[in-house]
Amino acid sequence: MLTGSIEWWNHIASVWEEKGDYRDRPDEYTMIASMLSGSVLEIGCGFGTFAKYLPEDCYYTGVDISVAMISKAWTGNEGDEHKTFLVGDIRHMDWPSKFDFTVCMQTLEHFTDPDLVAVMERIVSLTEKALLFSVPREPKTAHLDHQQEWLTEDCLLATFSQWGKTTILPTPPEDKHWVGVIQFSEETK
Ligand SMILES: C[S@@+](CC[C@H](N)C(=O)[O-])C[C@H]1O[C@@H](n2cnc3c(N)ncnc32)[C@H](O)[C@@H]1O
Repeated sequence: MLTGSIEWWNHIASVWEEKGDYRDRPDEYTMIASMLSGSVLEIGCGFGTFAKYLPEDCYYTGVDISVAMISKAWTGNEGDEHKTFLVGDIRHMDWPSKFDFTVCMQTLEHFTDPDLVAVMERIVSLTEKALLFSVPREPKTAHLDHQQEWLTEDCLLATFSQWGKTTILPTPPEDKHWVGVIQFSEETK
């Protein structure tokens, strides 16, 4: 099974489900959700756990390459007109209009270098105001499937500032994740 393939992510979904690991990180999700309004796209939404934290008036679309993750994400959200979950590959995704915000957590590190640029360019083309992201704050050797590492704030800024004004949000130094915002327009809320 090729690391990063659809089959691989479906397999990871079953491993996480067996462990009851639904990727719930209340502090990170609450901080990111508090910055959102209007239409929100989440890329690599996994089991859809973040969607629980959204302000009620947001219109949310979660996209993930894994059908296993997306079928779990629909559970309990079936009648909610504010939430949609779709199976899709961000590398090939088009949308008729822009979203106000895009969220992408613990996903960008899985792309190799030319793919990361393509994904970021797609995010820029799909997003009006800002990208809210989180990425690991640890060496990529900690997770062999990670293709990218961002060990310091400077190396994060060097990667992401080319797409917009990038700010790294304050989190405790012991946190294993960086949380950041890339602004594509002056208005973020
Ligand atoms: C490490 S998980 C992160 C899940 C969740 N966002 C979190 O913060 O814990 C990465 C997610 O990205 C999805 N993914 C990987 N490649 C993708 C792609 N090309 N397009 C859309 N989703 C993708 C995977 O299926 C997986 O659910």
